[in-house]
Amino acid sequence: RPDPEIPAKLLAWYDKHARALPWRAMPGEPAPDPYRVWLSEIMLQQTTVAAVKPYFAAFTQRWPDVAALANASDEDVMAAWAGLGYYSRARNLVKAARFVAELGGFPETEEGLRALPGVGDYTAAAIAAIAFGRRAVVVDANVERVVARLFAIEEPLPGARKAIRAAADRITPDERSGDFAQAMMDLGSRICTPRAPRCDACPLAADCAARGHDPQRLPVKAPK
Ligand code: ADE
Repeated sequence: RPDPEIPAKLLAWYDKHARALPWRAMPGEPAPDPYRVWLSEIMLQQTTVAAVKPYFAAFTQRWPDVAALANASDEDVMAAWAGLGYYSRARNLVKAARFVAELGGFPETEEGLRALPGVGDYTAAAIAAIAFGRRAVVVDANVERVVARLFAIEEPLPGARKAIRAAADRITPDERSGDFAQAMMDLGSRICTPRAPRCDACPLAADCAARGHDPQRLPVKAPK
């Protein structure tokens, strides 16, 4: 059984080391605007944080809320998206904004959020947790890597996804589930990196089953 202190250790680390990102509430601040959380998560789906930042700033300046984006023309949104790539995201963005405006606000559950065009399992869980404080198991590629190492899950991807998800579920707290999710993402992008993990700086090193056993070999990828 995982140490029940794992989420507490990770959250204490996040309180000190959270990246300041424009769509994020810093620890102790009220939950961020669901519109900004949704917009950032769509932009971050296939794009790095550094590339997203200027687009996020431009979009939120031009369309400060979901009603404004719902009233934008497809052409204007497509033009503003130019350079970010994966243009189906932009088409879905406008459709989803119109749907949310029609509803009178964002759905607050994972299931309700999955009804938005462009919102899949990961994104629905991320928005539910980060914007609405719902307990949700948020697993992206960074989190997958952290969990595979923490529990030394040796099974190759993609088969390991089920075990990784179950393990992530066991350590997800009822409170601060959005901060917990973002702490896992930050840990994955800054400490538990693919090639040269910085285990000396990791708040979960004492709990990590892979520590000292070549953590960088996990998760194992099935040969193509
Ligand atoms: N990647 C996707 N969503 C993110 C978030 N909320 N914080 C950091 N990286 C992310």
